Amino acid sequence: MSTPVEIVPGVHWVGVKHPQLRVFDELFPTHNGTTYNSYLVRGEKKLALIDTVKGMFSDEFFTDLAPQVDPAAIDLVVINHTEPDHSGALRRLLEINPEIPVYCSRAAENFLRQQLNHPFNAHVVTDGDEIDLGGRTLRFILAPYLHWPDTMFTYLVEDEILFSCDAFGAHYCSRSLFDDEIPDFSFDFHFYFDNIMRPFKEKIREALAKLDNLPLRLLCPSHGPILRRNPQAVLDSYWRWAAPPPESAHPRVLLLTLSPHGNTRKMGATIRETLEKQGMEVVEMSLVDPRESDLRDEMERADMLLIGTPTINRDAPGPVWNALALLSSVTPKRNVAAVFGTYGWSGEAVKLVEERLKGLKFSLATEGLTLRFTPTDEDLAHCHEFGAAVANELLSPQ
Ligand code: FEO
Repeated sequence: MSTPVEIVPGVHWVGVKHPQLRVFDELFPTHNGTTYNSYLVRGEKKLALIDTVKGMFSDEFFTDLAPQVDPAAIDLVVINHTEPDHSGALRRLLEINPEIPVYCSRAAENFLRQQLNHPFNAHVVTDGDEIDLGGRTLRFILAPYLHWPDTMFTYLVEDEILFSCDAFGAHYCSRSLFDDEIPDFSFDFHFYFDNIMRPFKEKIREALAKLDNLPLRLLCPSHGPILRRNPQAVLDSYWRWAAPPPESAHPRVLLLTLSPHGNTRKMGATIRETLEKQGMEVVEMSLVDPRESDLRDEMERADMLLIGTPTINRDAPGPVWNALALLSSVTPKRNVAAVFGTYGWSGEAVKLVEERLKGLKFSLATEGLTLRFTPTDEDLAHCHEFGAAVANELLSPQ
């Protein structure tokens, strides 16, 4: 049971709390549960619902809504984003009120058609379109890729409230809805940004620019607390986290190594020496339990990714795959990489990692280098050649 809460006169939070959730969408750990926020905005002429909740909570959603309003009396629904944690209960709303106008972006209309597989009364909106609710105006601001192509914000002009869907959200469920009434949740807020928003930094900057000079009293995301303590500070943190990586004076190589017996790292040291002699800046990180945020930052700053991996039991070890899994959550400057490593019995890891990188749309600067057991002087000469090939690729005109 999630009791509706009036956040300003005539505007209610009518979402659902899910405090026991431990993994969101079977993907992201949620240390403090989550909420699915939906909002009811009452004008003098029309009543609007902004977003719904996850489908499995449809019963709870409509039961809790009933004291506020007969769902059949809602005049229109805005779908800021169609991921089912927000659009799931739309199916039930359309059963109750099949002709209700559904306001959404062009991409959202397309997605909803294939999610609902049922006709609905779509009203496609674009940047700056408005709906007059009677004394209250909803204005739409397209925000594609925050974090789906369909995403938009809805701004309640007179009350200066931004309904931002996933943006500025956090998987955090607490007794109070407001950020100034609960303990610090900055860990969850940052974790959410890193895992959900971070892949789209350029799009975030474009969306934030549309909010410049927009008076903001409340930021109402679709997960976690309503942000009223200092909405501008929240926007500032997104500006900061979505900023492009700092420029480097020299081509920058990120060298990631995992080396149970020191041999792969010895190869890395030799390659590094060659690169540095040619004026490259090399940042080396061990893949033994690295800080993910540091790894992501460096992946975005690097002009080239070098991965040194051993082969263990015919494969690259888990920490190497974990690092590669982060690549889809960052925006690398250049998608170029090279792979090297040592082995004892077989030696599949270098090829396997190369295939994975190619699958992630990376090109390979040079053919992978695989050595057996302890590198000899001749082997290390091959490492120098490998480094020279990498440097050559980096220094060649783009
Ligand atoms: Fe909270 Fe993208 O759904």
